[in-house]
Amino acid sequence: MADKSFKYVIVGGGVAGGYAAREFAKQGVKPGELAIISKEAVAPYERPALSKAYLFPESPARLPGFHVCVGSGGERLLPEWYKEQGIELILSTEITKADLAAKTLISAAGETFKYQILIIATGSSVIKLTDFGVQGADAKNIFYLREIDDADKLVEAIKGKKNGKAVIVGGGYIGLELSAVMKINNYDVSMVYPEPWCMPRLFTADIAAFYEGHYQNKGIKIIKGTVAVGFTTHPNGEVKEVKLKDGRVLEADIVVVGVGGRPLTTLFKGQVAEEKGGIKTDGYFKTSVPDVYAVGDVATFPLKLYNELRRVEHVDHSRKSAEQSVKAIKASEEGKTIEEYDYLPFFYSRSFDLSWQFYGDNVGDTVLFGDNNPASPKPKFGTYWIKDGKIFGAFLEGGTPEENKAIAKVARVQPPVANPDLLKQEGLAFAAKI
Ligand code: FDA
Ligand code: NAD
Repeated sequence: MADKSFKYVIVGGGVAGGYAAREFAKQGVKPGELAIISKEAVAPYERPALSKAYLFPESPARLPGFHVCVGSGGERLLPEWYKEQGIELILSTEITKADLAAKTLISAAGETFKYQILIIATGSSVIKLTDFGVQGADAKNIFYLREIDDADKLVEAIKGKKNGKAVIVGGGYIGLELSAVMKINNYDVSMVYPEPWCMPRLFTADIAAFYEGHYQNKGIKIIKGTVAVGFTTHPNGEVKEVKLKDGRVLEADIVVVGVGGRPLTTLFKGQVAEEKGGIKTDGYFKTSVPDVYAVGDVATFPLKLYNELRRVEHVDHSRKSAEQSVKAIKASEEGKTIEEYDYLPFFYSRSFDLSWQFYGDNVGDTVLFGDNNPASPKPKFGTYWIKDGKIFGAFLEGGTPEENKAIAKVARVQPPVANPDLLKQEGLAFAAKI
């Protein structure tokens, strides 16, 4: 097989890969200069759809409806777009070997790709229960969710086990979004997680109490403080029961597991500096190896606002880091420099008719404001995080676009807080003044 050679190669055709391609096109790229190599069979798409509208029973989202960059209000890049731009989209191709010194990538099928500049955008893989040797965890109808193929398998199972029982293992993003969507599909849903409340990495006990209450009101059973330690199966190999550490046993037709992700850095181990589980970069997403950049979930980058290195596993950063890296590449070709990445962390989630946004850093003391009673007809509440007398983070459930903008500004500006009691009373009105 003849080697293929490109000026720029992006390995990974997910969110960051797609947004990087758009930025290359904006900045100017000649036909044949850029290739995206992706393990997935489809052009880059907005991954968040997979745990939300893709799984709806009525009018589900389907490709080509959610190719990048529709998730941020941009143009939808269909496979034809890449052709028109002269960008080679090399799909269903997994890179299994990378030699950064030789500027070469090799695929599972044995093809060799050469590059002058590489952008690593391989994202994350899921942590599996089989990784911990959980007994029976390889049974049929135990699902994970990362790529569109995973979502397609889950959709088939949802149809096949109509109105059945679902057990969701994990109380993070996947746990909360999948429990809701399985309920919408009329499943009898139980959620299991080890912590005292859901999403403990971000939520306070007060925030979590609202979502847990809301989910319980929808009929979802929540089982906290324990983990799945084994599964029993039917004679056909399909999952039958989930055995919990506390001795309880739950019947299940479908199990969905969301116990975290792992950045896909293995290809580059020992060849590039790593930090905090990711590939270490500077504020332009340059790694320790010349001409190699890393963006999205795999990058551990300087978070200027907090003066520390962080890795962020969310879509807003994957888009913005991809754009920053391409701008930096193009500027350096012209002997210019651009501003360093100055990111304000932004996370969000949606489930049922709920929708929250969070900006900044969840450090220090918290002040809850508004109505977080899950029984209220129209609950609306938020939380500020205060450190060293300043607001570092802000969370809002049910905000309008303007209100979300206002809390983002608060997290960016970090206004001082003289009186937390007054802040509690003012709530959103405080943000509106900033
Ligand atoms: P991403 O995972 O998007 O893409 C990586 C690509 O690289 C994949 O196509 C993969 O196949 C490919 N690849 C990996 N190794 C390869 C190899 N060796 N050879 C070739 N190709 C390779 N965030 C958020 O802020 N809000 C949200 O609502 C959601 N919702 C959500 C739902 C679900 C189901 C998931 C899994 C994730 C989210 N996220 C999210 C997180 C968000 O989607 C995530 O942070 C970004 O997709 C990261 O973008 P990347 O491009 O880094 O990885
Ligand atoms: P996560 O880190 O959000 O949550 C993992 C959860 O797993 C923990 O909170 C804990 O409750 C649970 N857990 C850990 N070990 C367990 C065990 N043995 N048994 C039961 N529970 C256990 O990870 P995730 O929800 O799996 O999400 C995977 C990735 O997808 C992350 O990168 C996440 O950011 C991304 N994602 C993001 C969104 C969003 O931003 N709205 C939505 C979906 C997925």
